[in-house]
Amino acid sequence: MQKKITAAITAVGGFVPEDKLTNADLEKMVDTNDEWIRTRTGIQERRILKAQGLATSDMGAPAVKDLCQRRGIDPMEIDCLICSTVTPDMLFPATANIICHKIGATNAWGFDLEAACSGFLYAVTTGAALIESGRYKKVVVVGADKMSAITDYSDRTTCILFGDAAAAVLLEPNTEGYGILDSLLKSDGSGVHYLHMKAGGSLKPPSNETVAAKEHFIYQDGQPVFKFAVKGMADVSAELLERNHLTGDDIAWLVPHQANKRIIDATANRMGLSQDKVMLNIQRYGNTTTATIPLCLWEWKHELNKGDLIVLAAFGGGFTWGATLVKWAY
Ligand code: UT7
Repeated sequence: MQKKITAAITAVGGFVPEDKLTNADLEKMVDTNDEWIRTRTGIQERRILKAQGLATSDMGAPAVKDLCQRRGIDPMEIDCLICSTVTPDMLFPATANIICHKIGATNAWGFDLEAACSGFLYAVTTGAALIESGRYKKVVVVGADKMSAITDYSDRTTCILFGDAAAAVLLEPNTEGYGILDSLLKSDGSGVHYLHMKAGGSLKPPSNETVAAKEHFIYQDGQPVFKFAVKGMADVSAELLERNHLTGDDIAWLVPHQANKRIIDATANRMGLSQDKVMLNIQRYGNTTTATIPLCLWEWKHELNKGDLIVLAAFGGGFTWGATLVKWAY
């Protein structure tokens, strides 16, 4: 009997820009303070892609190159590259295509996928299905966002939250039961009003009025998003454990989307996980939207062991949310 194919994560790559934007810097820009930011969010600093003329693909490309080096493969071996982003270089063509061009992955097809902060989970689930189909051997999933491009640095309710980064995983077929074991993904478009960018799409194309009204920046009504996020991320993670007959004791790591430390704590509590099993780097990078989860995997790569069961969990604009169960493959 042919063994079931699962999609194993076989390498992780990452890239963060060098420039830091600290809470002290923000105190000089808007009416805020370090204590408020740290206690309400857990963030101390974020990275910003500052140089003119650089875009999301300029972070995605080095992240994927890093991944290829670690796995010892040539970019020409990549079959497909999925880029999850809310800040594509341009509305079209896809940033995935631009990344492939920049790294010389000329055998790959690819596309962008947009599910806001849950984008990496949507993309890794899609990538896993491509591997499981048996048709593809190397699928790269990159989460990349230049959030500074859509952040209004005069709006204290959002500018303290976001940072820029990219990170990527390589998916390859496995027949020993390692890799993406299950995903529980959800969406509810009625959440559109709470977290969005008002203009620049087909609903409100760019105009002098939209620019003057600052409608090309992130808009977030923080409190309702917070309430939905706490419930959504905790519920879906608990449900994922339950349907796989697991408890917190079976889980080596929770890899949560890094939007707010309080949301992360609530999810970990609900799963019965202690703090030492939770990957947390929000203090150093802030909310990098779709890059947060692979960025954690990249930072913790030397602490992950073959066979570890890990839960990836996210909540974001849309609303979108979900959780993915992974058995670490190396
Ligand atoms: O990643 C995608 C999903 N996004 C999320 O999951 C984010 C969810 N939301 C949150 O994390 C939180 O709602 C925020 C961190 C965005 C805000 O925290 P909060 O505890 O919900 O604060 P708030 O919006 O209720 O504001 C409390 C107070 C207000 O003042 P008053 O009305 O009580 O006088 C705000 O005006 O804090 C004020 N405030 C600030 N004060 C200092 C808002 N922003 C700031 C600031 N510095 N930067």
